[in-house]
Amino acid sequence: MHSVIKTPDSLMWLTQLKNRDEYTSQHSMNVCVLSVALGRYIGLPEKELQDLGLCGMLHDMGKILIPDKVLNKPGKLTGKEVKIMKYHTVLGLKILKKSKGRVPLSVIDTAYSHHERVDGKGYHRGVGQEKITRETRIVAIADMYDALTSDRVYRKGCSHLEAIDIMNNMSGKHLDYALMLKFIECLSVYPPGSIVQLTNDEIAIVIEVNQDEKLRPKVIILLGADKQSKKEKIVNLAEREKDVGGETYTIKCTVRAVDYDIDIMKFYNSGVLQKGFSSL
Ligand SMILES: [Fe+2]
Repeated sequence: MHSVIKTPDSLMWLTQLKNRDEYTSQHSMNVCVLSVALGRYIGLPEKELQDLGLCGMLHDMGKILIPDKVLNKPGKLTGKEVKIMKYHTVLGLKILKKSKGRVPLSVIDTAYSHHERVDGKGYHRGVGQEKITRETRIVAIADMYDALTSDRVYRKGCSHLEAIDIMNNMSGKHLDYALMLKFIECLSVYPPGSIVQLTNDEIAIVIEVNQDEKLRPKVIILLGADKQSKKEKIVNLAEREKDVGGETYTIKCTVRAVDYDIDIMKFYNSGVLQKGFSSL
């Protein structure tokens, strides 16, 4: 909010967005909050966080020029409509250029580039990771998460776990791999369904969060340090049990299920994840 107040142009654009489309306006606010949360988590300084918030808030500004029947169509878009919709990045660039000098350049760039992919298969230019700024890569993650988890007229939003699962499979291709892992950690530290590597290099799935000790959830160890499957073992990390090497079981980092051929939905469908899952 501080940043918006200091940048009068952004207030004008936000008002226009709110008058034009309620969903996009709400979505933009969510993307702003999620982007700043991730930025804070990775330790960005205050000034960069302020710019990042504006980048999130104004990333979809181009949508004010997309016809309503395309923007809010309650069904699948035709090929032509998809083209029109995708054009919102170019429109965003054009609109925000009018505020050049009064909004940070990164805001204009994010509006233009937030649908680029790190593998270079995005739009509008199809540039790769090295040409996409960190702000834009953060906003792209926040944008995807909010779009997946929000209810729309034509579909119900995904759960947190489903969204993370979908996005995890996109990381390294669509989304920035390292930032995506940080995003999972920062959202709820290790929500049920997270795949984690322990300090002894074993791989486990989180099945229940310990509210008092979010860094020490209950897990099932699935793979040994050699990454071969082993007899599944439930460990409540909050109880500080020691492994065979005498080391206390502790999480080292989040990893991707796809890298270890782990099917998260199998655990969800079997009911193992139910308890922690429903509490999210
Ligand atoms: Fe967009």
